[in-house]
Amino acid sequence: MTTQSLFDRKRGGPFAPLSLPPFPPGEVWLVGAGPGDPGLLTLHAAHALEQADVVVHDALVDEAVLRLARPGAEIVFAGKRGGKPSASQPDITRRLIDLAKAGKRVLRLKGGDPFIFGRGAEEARALVAAGVPFRVVPGITAGIGGLAYAGIPATARETNAAIAFVTGHAASGEVPDNVDWTALARSASVLVIYMAVKHLAAIVDRLLAGGRSPDEPLAFICAATTARHRVVTSTLGRAVADRDAHGVEAPAIVVVGEVVRLREQLGGWWDPSVLDSFQTDSAAE
Ligand SMILES: C[S@@+](CC[C@H](N)C(=O)[O-])C[C@H]1O[C@@H](n2cnc3c(N)ncnc32)[C@H](O)[C@@H]1O
Repeated sequence: MTTQSLFDRKRGGPFAPLSLPPFPPGEVWLVGAGPGDPGLLTLHAAHALEQADVVVHDALVDEAVLRLARPGAEIVFAGKRGGKPSASQPDITRRLIDLAKAGKRVLRLKGGDPFIFGRGAEEARALVAAGVPFRVVPGITAGIGGLAYAGIPATARETNAAIAFVTGHAASGEVPDNVDWTALARSASVLVIYMAVKHLAAIVDRLLAGGRSPDEPLAFICAATTARHRVVTSTLGRAVADRDAHGVEAPAIVVVGEVVRLREQLGGWWDPSVLDSFQTDSAAE
């Protein structure tokens, strides 16, 4: 069953009794698409895909999710592809505003959660400034969904009472200098680091200088929950060498901490090949 019938009472959609909000023309909805697996969309997100006139998406939104858009919806790519420069943020927000003012139902679809390292805040503020009504639909961020699919619990009572989400890449293109890496190293026993592949050596140096052990377990979760999902386990001390040896590339989450060891028991429960049948089924309809 596709989302086209999920909310349709006449066609007996299982979620029809839920009174999910209609998507009024002239609104922009900032929606999290989750990390990849379409099964991780929220009902609000699926409902928005069913109703939107235009879907403006970034590069991290998986094809399998885009296939759930209403037939006839305009799909607009607003990300970075093949090393070409990305659409500028002002251009994207201008487009969202223009489409809404033209009376479209505009779905701004972002990978993961729109307010986790996703510039959702900037876009929402631009909409407020332009007087465009909006709604925010949170999504499962890669640092939660990716860990779960890798068999790495974000917290476990015996390993950590704190977790930190941090980015390894600032707007300047460098390691963020507004993160106190020493304090971070000492305060959160599990670190979930986004956009860390490029500057990994500098990040590892900062964490070791902050007192973390080179033997601490680390995992790269690459293209999490997509058909290309791959997990590489390592240690803080070996991370850079293992990144290079295993050809780890973005998008990847780096997770550091004792919870990574739980993958030895819990990993492998999810098999990315299940997405093949999903894609074949939906493409056939
Ligand atoms: C601009 S941030 C967007 C984060 C997104 N808003 C979220 O909540 O997941 C991009 C970074 O998120 C991480 N990321 C997003 N999707 C991912 C995925 N499916 N697998 C692994 N990492 C992912 C990577 O670190 C990537 O470089």
